[in-house]
Amino acid sequence: MRPQVSSEPASVASPSTWFSCHDLHAYYGESYIVQGVGFAVREGEIVALLGRNGAGKTSTLRTIARLADPQLKNGEIWLAGKPLHRMSAWQAARNGVGLVPEDRRIIAGLTVEENLQLAQIEPPRGWSIERLYEHFPRLAERRRQDAVTLSGGEQQMLAVARALARDVKLLLLDEPYEGLAPVIVRDIEQILEEIKSLRFTTIIVEQNAIAALHLSDRALILDMGQIVFDGSARDVIDNKDLRQQYLAL
Ligand SMILES: Nc1ncnc2c1ncn2[C@@H]1O[C@H](COP(=O)(O)OP(=O)(O)OP(=O)(O)O)[C@@H](O)[C@H]1O
Ligand SMILES: [Mg+2]
Repeated sequence: MRPQVSSEPASVASPSTWFSCHDLHAYYGESYIVQGVGFAVREGEIVALLGRNGAGKTSTLRTIARLADPQLKNGEIWLAGKPLHRMSAWQAARNGVGLVPEDRRIIAGLTVEENLQLAQIEPPRGWSIERLYEHFPRLAERRRQDAVTLSGGEQQMLAVARALARDVKLLLLDEPYEGLAPVIVRDIEQILEEIKSLRFTTIIVEQNAIAALHLSDRALILDMGQIVFDGSARDVIDNKDLRQQYLAL
């Protein structure tokens, strides 16, 4: 039996629950990685998904976004009343899942603006390009620049902007600070503060757990493919044992 620090079963669905997943089991081939994950997120909430390297954080985000790998074999995923578990990745994206992967997937050979336009290929329901430029002036300045020549921080901005250009109901951010210098991290922090003030429902995975916790309302800790803590971000900040056991902080 694994330790369950959680005080209440947060995965219980209720009509007011914006996002929930239940008993997710997902595999890379024969490798059983996501082992019964379940949790819920309220609309407008920012939740930090934490855990050591290899705990299954990226795999959990990929499972929610319905990417082919890892393969979901069991469980349910609901977003704004829609069953994501019955959808493919593109259907999940059309229904509001916005995954910003670790490598940011900037499309080479396209300018900043073309990257944003591509995100709007659907009837544009998300933010207009003008509105994005208002919020991300650095992107506006570089709109004609090949996007792969952007700095790491600017690429992260573009990746987030691209998600907002769609009608995102759940933003999934995988290590937005990855590989960025501290000065750029501050820029990204500003963007995340903005996302928070705009009440975008967000799940953020971050090695920099303390930074993520300060931004987040709630925290989930994953260990070996299972949720071992589900509670307030404050509880994790205050609980040294928990941090040492699962986050090595
Ligand atoms: N494509 C794959 N095929 C097989 N196993 C994989 C694959 N991708 C990841 N894994 C394994 O799944 C486990 C969880 O990996 P995952 O990337 O989800 O961890 P993580 O919590 O995001 O780690 P990190 O903090 O290092 O990014 C690891 O043991 C990893 O080796
Ligand atoms: Mg990862």
